[in-house]
Amino acid sequence: MSKRFSLESIVSLAKRRGFVYQGSEIYGGLAGTWDYGPLGVQLKRNLADLWWKMFVEGRDDMFGLDSAILMNPKVWQASGHIATFSDPLVECQTCHGRFRADKIDSSKCPSCGSKNSFGQPRQFNMMFKTQVGPVANQESVSYLRPETAQGMFVNFKNVVDSFSPNLPFGIAQIGRAFRNEISPRDFLFRAREFEIMELEYFVRPDDWQEPFNDWRKLLGQWFAAIGLPAGRIKEVELPSNERAHYSQATVDFYYDYPSIGLDELAGLAYRGAFDLTNHQRLSGKKLEYRPKEGGKPFVPHVIEPTFGLDRNVMAVLSEAYCEDSVGGEKRVLLKLPSDLAPVRYAVSPLLKNKPELVEKARAVYRLLKERFGLVMWDDNGNIGKRYRRQDEIGTPYCVVVDFQSLQDGTVTVRDRDTTKQQRLAPEAIGQSESTH
Ligand code: GAP
Repeated sequence: MSKRFSLESIVSLAKRRGFVYQGSEIYGGLAGTWDYGPLGVQLKRNLADLWWKMFVEGRDDMFGLDSAILMNPKVWQASGHIATFSDPLVECQTCHGRFRADKIDSSKCPSCGSKNSFGQPRQFNMMFKTQVGPVANQESVSYLRPETAQGMFVNFKNVVDSFSPNLPFGIAQIGRAFRNEISPRDFLFRAREFEIMELEYFVRPDDWQEPFNDWRKLLGQWFAAIGLPAGRIKEVELPSNERAHYSQATVDFYYDYPSIGLDELAGLAYRGAFDLTNHQRLSGKKLEYRPKEGGKPFVPHVIEPTFGLDRNVMAVLSEAYCEDSVGGEKRVLLKLPSDLAPVRYAVSPLLKNKPELVEKARAVYRLLKERFGLVMWDDNGNIGKRYRRQDEIGTPYCVVVDFQSLQDGTVTVRDRDTTKQQRLAPEAIGQSESTH
């Protein structure tokens, strides 16, 4: 496994090179919010696309969805979020700082240092309340969704009516979720606005264990696909008193984050018939599956794999961040897997004041851009500086047009990790260089 570096160095690179900025930074920020810069948004999109390919497009038992963030408040009554989606909050009587009771040493205030200054803990509901429509009253109260899962449950009947799928089948979506966390912390790890990639996999009530085990393995395959070594992932089976209110079995997947240590990255829960039964009761609509081979309709049970997209971005950046030395000089690089890197190829003329080199390099740039999309034109500074800059943003290959290119048409293709170069015809790029 690669050497670890501090979270601070990763946050600093993320800001410096346009991956992730503090939300509303010019106003002093807004705690628990982050803005993805030009490279971060591409990295996040590449991750989400890979997830969608693996878990939706690549299967024939999955249906995609993009449901509204605002939902009828009865959804949150049925799901149990109004009653139970809370964390224990304590307030320091000296400085009035508020903290999550289960995350602090209960005798000392982390803000002012006062001892034994906390009042009794109270439950703090983490849903963001909002008002829907111009009239503010009890009926207009709604919430920003704290999870994407409920969108899948309330559309269960729609998908069954439109597609008549056979069990087991799943509904998947990627989207924003909002939680008024008491103490947002550690970069993207605990934010107040973040994205979830998750799916609800509907099964027969007596047939959940095998698909649950299959999903457990698939989660492992996902982490391998995004370059997280098995040695940094820990699977934790939660005892009943630590599971969410809806879950009958949960395996959490922890990643060994730099500076934080092992903490949650994704989860797998067996939710039984909890959600569909409650929605059926509150909406008065039947949410059953009618077996095609005959027999009584029933409410399916559900298995839910869930992945925090931002935590996946953070884990991928943490795993990729590296420092080494080239020619006696320190270099920072991101060893991102090729299919996640925001820039796959950077193209340069060796010298930018030689029109014949620039013209040829422009033609190579257009060719690669057409074929690979994520290609950057880079002619800033000298070639050494360009290599360093591209290494820092994780570009797997730098393509340079030099004087030999004008003779034989070949270009140099430099590998980010080894710094080795090979000469290739531009048309052969993407076929013969080693893959990351
Ligand atoms: N539908 C199930 C569900 O929402 P969860 O464990 O509460 O489960 C899903 O959240 C995933 O979202 C987690 O595995 C975690 O990766 C991520 N997540 C949860 N809270 C987060 C926060 N405050 N900031 C960033 N990611 C968060």
